[in-house]
Amino acid sequence: MPIVEFDREKTVEVDDPDLTLLEIAREAGIPHASACGGNGRCSTCRVMILEHPEHLDPRNAVETRLARAKGFEDNIRLACQTTITGDVKLRRLVIDEEDLQLAQDGTPQTTGKDRQLAILFSDIRNFTPFAESHLPYDVIHILGRYFRKVGEPVIRHGGYIDKYMGDGIMAIFGLERATAAEACLDAVAAGLGMQESLDELNVYISKQFDTTFRMGIGVHVGSVIIGEMGHPQKMQFTAIGDTVNIASRIESATKQLGVGLLVSAEVRALLGDAARYGLSELVNLKGKSGEHLLSEVVGLNVVPPPAVATPGAPAP
Ligand code: FES
Repeated sequence: MPIVEFDREKTVEVDDPDLTLLEIAREAGIPHASACGGNGRCSTCRVMILEHPEHLDPRNAVETRLARAKGFEDNIRLACQTTITGDVKLRRLVIDEEDLQLAQDGTPQTTGKDRQLAILFSDIRNFTPFAESHLPYDVIHILGRYFRKVGEPVIRHGGYIDKYMGDGIMAIFGLERATAAEACLDAVAAGLGMQESLDELNVYISKQFDTTFRMGIGVHVGSVIIGEMGHPQKMQFTAIGDTVNIASRIESATKQLGVGLLVSAEVRALLGDAARYGLSELVNLKGKSGEHLLSEVVGLNVVPPPAVATPGAPAP
């Protein structure tokens, strides 16, 4: 007889092959949510399959429709629509009232995914004194021109602009790429393009405000969790994880080293001869243990393959 293991709850032997996962849970006394009564309309019975997805019958038409609408990954199944052919380990995803509210919310929710991506952070080095000594109109006007100008190479190289933080930008690269090496090439090409864009913008800023800006850019690559996060009224696609934190620290290190574009050793290892390097130094990154070898990138020896732009929040 097949065995269904409800992670952290109960292990159940199933003697009737026609039972759905929801019916199996109920017969075992597990308080499985099912707001629509098992009719495939609410998704509150959703479970995450942890082991043996091959022992599940394929999605039926009802489940397929709801899974598409909610943006469920393949490992998220509706317990009320799913029957099994062998042992399965799964986890209930709607446990308490708050889970129930989230599950019933109309906002499509992705379930998160682990990806190898490149993360870029940029910052205007000397913007604070400018903001403090100019009219709010000028500050917003210049930031508007800046974000438009430096955002173009990010989009051109397939980057997703994740967020603005004051005058800083965080961008994600590789969402549409097959390898982390391609993600790094896109990110570095975008970083070099951002520097060129700022040089062009500086001609205008110099004339209008008698000053110029410099920027620092940091790029790191590694494992990140991507998905839709936030309050239901303002869900936002983003990436989280230590890779993101390190990329931010690398950007901060550009100030310390007095260079424009720094990449981590991991990025350099993937780029190899595709990039030209300047200064390389071991640096202590704030909040991180040990020394990190950072390399300045001064140019590329290759042209990145055409990128698929990801201007909107992509499905992870
Ligand atoms: S109980 Fe509503 S979709 Fe399964």
